[in-house]
Amino acid sequence: MTLKAFRAALLRFADDGAPLYDEDGLLVTGAGPQGWRSVLASGPAAGLLPQWNHVPAEHLPGRILAPGFVDMHIHYPQTDIIGAPAEGLLPWLEKYTFPHESRLSDRAVADEVAGCFLDELARNGVTTALACATSHPASVDALFTAAQQRGLRLMTGKVLQDRHSPDGVRDGTEQSLIDTEALIARWHGVGRLGYAITPRFAPTSTPAQLHGAGEIAARHPGVWIQSHVAENRGEIAWVRELFPQARSYLSVYGDAGLLRERAVYAHCIHLDDADRALMRDTGTVAAVSPTSNLFLGSGFFDYEAADRIGFRYGLASDVGGGTSFSPFLTMRAAYWVGREGATKPGLSLAPGALWWQHTAGAGRALGLGGTAGNLQPGSDADFIVLDPQATPLLARRTAQADSLDELLFAFIVLADDRAVARTVIA
Ligand code: GUN
Ligand code: ZN
Repeated sequence: MTLKAFRAALLRFADDGAPLYDEDGLLVTGAGPQGWRSVLASGPAAGLLPQWNHVPAEHLPGRILAPGFVDMHIHYPQTDIIGAPAEGLLPWLEKYTFPHESRLSDRAVADEVAGCFLDELARNGVTTALACATSHPASVDALFTAAQQRGLRLMTGKVLQDRHSPDGVRDGTEQSLIDTEALIARWHGVGRLGYAITPRFAPTSTPAQLHGAGEIAARHPGVWIQSHVAENRGEIAWVRELFPQARSYLSVYGDAGLLRERAVYAHCIHLDDADRALMRDTGTVAAVSPTSNLFLGSGFFDYEAADRIGFRYGLASDVGGGTSFSPFLTMRAAYWVGREGATKPGLSLAPGALWWQHTAGAGRALGLGGTAGNLQPGSDADFIVLDPQATPLLARRTAQADSLDELLFAFIVLADDRAVARTVIA
């Protein structure tokens, strides 16, 4: 693999989450230990050029090299139902989501949607995603196959839903667990792909399916787990009826062995402090999905409580409950929501912190061990080229930014997919 360098302004993240910015930066990439391209060196060009001037560098004047975004929770089959109006989560699932997802039992439909989905991720600068498929194993094959062709780091899994689900998406308890094991064997750890055990949410799985999923998780500690929790009050009341013995909605998953490192729960809005401590103590993480929470009227993630108790979280689009593939829009909504709920100006809402939550912080929460989202030496060479002049207003505002905070905030507040000039996959 040839060495390749890129010279432009450079954004990266330190281990402590601090954003680092070089006006004239150099990013040197080459073969990594696992067979795909990694970052060999990154930092100020003046300091690195003496060692790396033999590597041909592509100059990108006026552009910013930045880590590819990490989307911690997204539904690829819901690409085509963004913006479907409903009173809230449960009617939205009944009326749009389940009927639409049933179409992906057809592999040809799944292939077509998977291609469109991955194009959207790339156009928006997302280079790592943990995605839900549908309950049909072929929908998983379709997405993994398409991601593999593009060399993308992607985790997905077959949705488990063996009750309270209509014909067309409902699976069978025993077969669903057999299918999950088979998909893990076929795909987990193949190149940059990873499997995620995916119970849709507690109301649509029998206790037998949840416990079966937990047993599979125990046999495969490197596999991810993804689901939804504490998103909506109607959903929570339903879980209380279905699992009267459980201390809380979250503890239904704990009782089934589904809380651990690499377990990622979307929303986590209506938790109490005992739940938050359970998240922290088990290493379970939250995928914060502000555009979805606003669109479906679910509520607000409590950043202050999360930071007080100390569990990990990162940002996610949650398309199609979420309204945009753009990480800029997700960061913008996270800022609005955090601002609304904050009792004091929270550091978690500083622009560098928001950006970290959608790059290196999300990679860390996913258990990717520093390989994603920071552009440090040794990390995967997944990066984007940002154009600060993508729109007239963005050009004016970024030209007048006096600090890194102002520059990052200008993108968070004004940018969209037009600002992503190029997405480079390792
Ligand atoms: N809860 C169960 N399924 C879903 C889903 O597809 N989207 C959202 N936002 N919440 C869910
Ligand atoms: Zn979701």
